[in-house]
Amino acid sequence: MGHAPWWQRGIVYQVYPRSFQDSDVDGVGDLKGILRRVDYFGWLGVDAVWLSPIYPSPMADFGYDVADYRGIEPVFGTLDDFSELVAALHGRGLKLILDLVPNHTSDRHPWFVASRSGWSDPKRDWYIWRDAAPDGGPPNNWLSTFGGSAWEWDAATGQYYYHAFAREQPDLNWRNPAVRRAVYDAMRFWLDRGVDGFRVDVMWHLLKDPAWRDNPPNPAYDGSQPEFQRLLEVNTTDQPDVHEIVAEMRALIDEYDDRVLIGEIYLPIERLVAYYGRDLAGAHLPFNFQLILTAWDAGRIAGLVERYEAALPAGAWPNWVLGNHDKPRIASRVGPAQARVAAMLLLTLRGTPTLYYGDEIGMRDVPIPPGMVHDPWEKNEPGMGFGRDPQRTPMQWDASALAGFTTGTPWLPLADDRAACNVEVLSNDAGSILALYRQLIELRRTSPALSLGTYRTVAAEGGVFAYERRYDGASMLVALNFGDQPDRRIELPPGDRPGRVLASTHGDRQGETVAGALTLRPDEGVIVSLTG
Ligand code: NOJ
Ligand code: MG
Repeated sequence: MGHAPWWQRGIVYQVYPRSFQDSDVDGVGDLKGILRRVDYFGWLGVDAVWLSPIYPSPMADFGYDVADYRGIEPVFGTLDDFSELVAALHGRGLKLILDLVPNHTSDRHPWFVASRSGWSDPKRDWYIWRDAAPDGGPPNNWLSTFGGSAWEWDAATGQYYYHAFAREQPDLNWRNPAVRRAVYDAMRFWLDRGVDGFRVDVMWHLLKDPAWRDNPPNPAYDGSQPEFQRLLEVNTTDQPDVHEIVAEMRALIDEYDDRVLIGEIYLPIERLVAYYGRDLAGAHLPFNFQLILTAWDAGRIAGLVERYEAALPAGAWPNWVLGNHDKPRIASRVGPAQARVAAMLLLTLRGTPTLYYGDEIGMRDVPIPPGMVHDPWEKNEPGMGFGRDPQRTPMQWDASALAGFTTGTPWLPLADDRAACNVEVLSNDAGSILALYRQLIELRRTSPALSLGTYRTVAAEGGVFAYERRYDGASMLVALNFGDQPDRRIELPPGDRPGRVLASTHGDRQGETVAGALTLRPDEGVIVSLTG
């Protein structure tokens, strides 16, 4: 067990810095706020903290529009605050992962300002500039993820530039070696300051078709999806040569001890696993979002786990994600009872789990009144449910009026249920989802079978998904009832000793002995040690 690197053994916790803890009454979370809460991470039991972007940014996409790869946004604090946070985390044995946003910059980044200043500027080719089509329209049919054409006309220089996201986020030209060098230098800047790795934003977007061909129509589009899904992104994403860039990033990471490279990649499993790279020289962890994207059904999830396990290249380490700042919260999607089952699933599957802040207290999506919308996607395609503000609301720490997040005016509204759903109240309730999360994290930390063991499906029928994790003679059975049906029965694998219940999502069966078969109550998940 001692040999597995921390990013295999450990648990990652995502902090959305704007919403974690405010320290200066401006209603926006900041680094000093995170510092104030630093003991929470250890208390919860996670191993690494991933911060969404904290770089200087005009906030057109809330930090994913970076204006300087080597600084700290003043709203969040200073480089000194950052160093203090690194030291505080490291002092507690915790790792720090930064978001790296290499696909695009802010349109205010000095590189883009230079690039758009004229055709002869040395940085012109750092971005993606194309002539208009013969009719004066955009060079091709590519669409922005946030809606509309991905091409923005620049009247001053008479060309279009490409932006896969907001028009304030021009895409860098990763075919230009100077761009690569500049971003790699920025990576070194942070690695030299002790950062333990990067989560690379939209890794599968970095290169585009060099022939600029149109994307083909998506035959499955039915009008309920975001506009960009009218087209299949075959020429704008997942280009074969992107793997060379990922390998370069990995080689850079490997110049340092014990760091991690995580890729944000929304692709079907078969294409996702290619991001581990040839000979595993790519990303350590290509983020696996399939739990977020798959219907909440025992058979479907069991099938997913088997397909993912089967698709992993030899030696590749799996990972699972249940929520992030881009997707509806798990407690809203599956309801509070199944959110507990989801927690048990995430923390007992084979592979590094990533938790999204607030999911451990069962935070739900908060409805955002139209006048309070911040997210550029919601502004571009309003009322369709694509907006991401609901899952980015302030962390609920206590039962005070502003939940302990701020004493100013929070940048997004707080949830109505904050008086009951908060860290302070739930930490004093042994039956709470927070208590369950802590118990599951502790079990995973102390059980090599759960953290490093092999995986085997035991049952996937009647609304129940059960599997066994094994390590060095230790065996754990996890059985999850994905529905509200009572008396779901699972035959235990044959063994000479009766099993012992280590945890139930209902909080009340610990120590129970099970022999022959196990019965689950509605919405119940159970972990049974089969080896005493
Ligand atoms: C993925 C990030 O998670 C999302 O929040 C952002 O809008 C896009 N990339 C663009 O950077
Ligand atoms: Mg603040």
